Amino acid sequence: MQKLAGRVAIVSGAGRGIGRAVALKLASEGAHVVVNDRDDAPTCETAEAITQSGGTAATCVGSVTDPDFGDRFVRTALDTFGGLDIIVNNAGYTWDSVIQKMTDEQFEAVMDVHVMAPFRILRAAAEPIRRFAKQEAAEGREVFRKVVNISSVSGTGGNAGQVNYATAKAGIIGMTKTLAKEWGRYKVNVNCVAFGFIRTRMTQAIASEGDRKSGVRPELLEKLERDLIPLGRLGTPEEAADGVYLFCTPESNYISGQVITVGGGIIF
Ligand SMILES: NC(=O)c1ccc[n+]([C@@H]2O[C@H](COP(=O)([O-])OP(=O)(O)OC[C@H]3O[C@@H](n4cnc5c(N)ncnc54)[C@H](O)[C@@H]3O)[C@@H](O)[C@H]2O)c1
Repeated sequence: MQKLAGRVAIVSGAGRGIGRAVALKLASEGAHVVVNDRDDAPTCETAEAITQSGGTAATCVGSVTDPDFGDRFVRTALDTFGGLDIIVNNAGYTWDSVIQKMTDEQFEAVMDVHVMAPFRILRAAAEPIRRFAKQEAAEGREVFRKVVNISSVSGTGGNAGQVNYATAKAGIIGMTKTLAKEWGRYKVNVNCVAFGFIRTRMTQAIASEGDRKSGVRPELLEKLERDLIPLGRLGTPEEAADGVYLFCTPESNYISGQVITVGGGIIF
């Protein structure tokens, strides 16, 4: 039996990496998924992969940092599938440097995508969620909705060279805990998954795009696998998605305001 049959999910940054794996996983369990990414091609590719495997998907292309994006994302779910049950705030990127070299633009850009954008998406979702919850309460039904925000061990433990990203990923934990308290009355479980090191574009060998540095030094990757990750290797996007999925299932209906680390045993 599919655990998420008929539920409506929105997943940001789902054109690649972990977000793509989350979208496919939720769809494989019967959710109707609104797929977002910044550009057409990766967004449509994920949506097609879902439909080709028998699932249901719609697309909402654009940057999560556009001021009206949150409203557009939520409206796509409501207009296309008539509901909104699962929100996964996943989109993001890193733009690293030590603090003395970090510009205001660099700090703000990373805060914008990892904190401001989820805030706007969740704010846009507040009114429909409140409306659905009131209706369900009036009918004597308890229907649980799910928010899964994505953090990082950079946010839970700090990471040299990532003062912008670590600050943002700690910020999303505060947002998670606060909304768990604000939205408990609407039966929304709001939780956070902090990833360790997952094999995606983000953890590829270090690369510079103009002045933007991202990725991980190859020698650090080796050290991580050898000495620091108890399970001995980086995670796959599918394993990362499974962590998110746990917080989307009915088995997590009484769990809210929590952060779990999906990191092969890394503890911060
Ligand atoms: N890979 C890891 O080891 C790791 C560790 C900790 C946390 N994370 C977090 O997991 C999430 C997914 O990262 P990933 O590893 O899959 O990276 P990825 O680069 O493979 O995928 C991220 C996706 O987000 C999209 N994206 C970026 N900015 C966007 C924007 N403004 N609007 C819409 N889409 C945008 C990208 O186009 C890309 O498709 C991120 O929030 C990241 O910070 C990843």
